[in-house]
Amino acid sequence: MGAAIKPLVAGNWKMNGLKAAVSELQALVDGYDADLAAKVDSMICPPATLIAQFADVTGNSAVAIGAQDCHVNVSGAHTGDLSAQMVADAGAVAIIVGHSERRADHGEGNEVVKAKAEAVWAQDLVAIICVGETEVERKSGETLDVIKAQLAGSVPAGATAANCVIAYEPVWAIGTGLTPTAQDVSDVHACMRDELSKAFGDEGATMRLLYGGSVKPSNASELMSVANVDGALVGGASLKAADFLGIMAAYK
Ligand code: 13P
Repeated sequence: MGAAIKPLVAGNWKMNGLKAAVSELQALVDGYDADLAAKVDSMICPPATLIAQFADVTGNSAVAIGAQDCHVNVSGAHTGDLSAQMVADAGAVAIIVGHSERRADHGEGNEVVKAKAEAVWAQDLVAIICVGETEVERKSGETLDVIKAQLAGSVPAGATAANCVIAYEPVWAIGTGLTPTAQDVSDVHACMRDELSKAFGDEGATMRLLYGGSVKPSNASELMSVANVDGALVGGASLKAADFLGIMAAYK
């Protein structure tokens, strides 16, 4: 089943990047040749300030452009927030929701994440829904329970392989250089596949399941070859085209 799923390597630039960083995007577009594009999809989620500029550069043809968050509403009195409609208008084709940094820094729980995913779908965009356990939860053996609860609470009814991507990002592995073992990743991804298949049938069985957390060129091949891992959500190593291409090379 997994062999039929085209992998996606997506870069989450977080709060990094000024206009001049378009040179990295250009280098990525130049290095992402037809051969690689046939094997793996590619996306960059820059800060919202760069979405329009980046979407102009790529035309969303080779490297797709996504956003990192959106508000649950389409418009209104929400100073500083951006709606899914706005980032779609700027050129985004996907939006990350429920990243652990949003869950932690902005107190976003599963209900909010679910509402955001629905707001993403209302604009016909793809929702990249993030889940992941903290270090404390892992140490107390709660990982699979936490992941199951986050999937049940954050993924709305109506999720399909086309409108939804799930990213497993263990909180303790983000930006730390630490990664779970291949066996640990395999256990979590098998559990997610199981849960999503139960909830969404064939759609859940073919939905892309990304791994995120300290992915870099040197560990990409091992992590991307784990069963039910259909790509990566990359933070720090997505900022440099050479590193990002080095991660995608796992699929060459
Ligand atoms: P790092 O790759 O920097 O660990 O970040 C992962 C992440 O949070 C992607 O969303």
